[in-house]
Amino acid sequence: MKALILSGGKGTRLRPITHTSAKQLVPVANKPILFYTIEAVVAAGVREVGIVVGDTHQEIRDSCGDGSRWGCRITYIQQDAPLGLAHAVKIAEDFIAGEPFVMYLGDNLIRDGIINLAEEFEREKPNAQILLAHVPNPTEFGVAELEGNRVVRLVEKPKEPKTDLALVGVYMFDRTVFEAVNSIKPSWRGELEITDAIQYLVDTGRTVHSHIIGGWWKDTGKREDMLEANRLMLEDLEPSLGGQIDDASVIHGRVVVGDGSEIVRSTIRGPVIIGANCKITDAYIGPFTSINDNAVVTNSEIEHSIILEDCCIENLEARMEDSLLGRNVRVCRDDSKPRAYRFMLGESSDVSVL
Ligand code: G1P
Repeated sequence: MKALILSGGKGTRLRPITHTSAKQLVPVANKPILFYTIEAVVAAGVREVGIVVGDTHQEIRDSCGDGSRWGCRITYIQQDAPLGLAHAVKIAEDFIAGEPFVMYLGDNLIRDGIINLAEEFEREKPNAQILLAHVPNPTEFGVAELEGNRVVRLVEKPKEPKTDLALVGVYMFDRTVFEAVNSIKPSWRGELEITDAIQYLVDTGRTVHSHIIGGWWKDTGKREDMLEANRLMLEDLEPSLGGQIDDASVIHGRVVVGDGSEIVRSTIRGPVIIGANCKITDAYIGPFTSINDNAVVTNSEIEHSIILEDCCIENLEARMEDSLLGRNVRVCRDDSKPRAYRFMLGESSDVSVL
């Protein structure tokens, strides 16, 4: 089985982070989302991985390389315009070369991986296998209608959904999907929808199996989703304390501290991950926080947040919460006169002050 990972898209709902970074490379628990995806397909036995890339292709190539680090071979497939998930399948036809494959959206995370699903797909050999999850907001997804186990109808972002079963961004296909993606027409949003391609398979009498997943699933398109994915990943954190932790500091629960980091007179209440070469002084780092390498946190409190590399947070009076800071961001109290807020914010930044 091959894998096709979709890693194009502009990530507009994660601006300003995505002005400079691909959304699939935003880390949760200090690891880019896309790396979890690659690990999941490799764990299921895949060795040939195609990654469909768009405008952010250079950054994705630089981060993932040739795949040897995961024991797979990565081929990059350029999608010149975001014309839809089914369009991504279309341009990958040469790479797939008639083999069965798993298509995985590079911004989706599922807890339990795909090992069992891939085994079942290879054993039962349906034309397609889809994953479904019950969601509170089905209008934001592709939605499935079932009769027993049989898929009867799939609708992309329905205004009046008939069920709460959303299509998870992990699909398995055999070669019949190429007939489907070459037969469908663009949707109202101008995209070739994979949902319509699967409906084509249903309508032409092909076998489409479905599975309702038990463990959690997250589509990480928005800040709240990123924070929740981070929370869910940190719940499974294996503690390990590197660096230096002084006697005046207190570590509670599951905490990772990376090499070269220093924790001074601080309280860390897990689950928390702190990367390498950070300096945390007179601070409180609360549950569900991921702080990436080279951060400096002084005299401040942070909880339920994702902080990327090289950030500096100093002397905040109130606790920072529910925040996502991009690389090299500085958030500091400044007592100089006149007393004022001083910002330097990129387009689509979002600031809440007390
Ligand atoms: C895409 C699919 C949708 C699916 C979702 C899962 O939506 O079109 O059917 O439910 O991924 O993440 P998009 O992210 O393009 O809005």
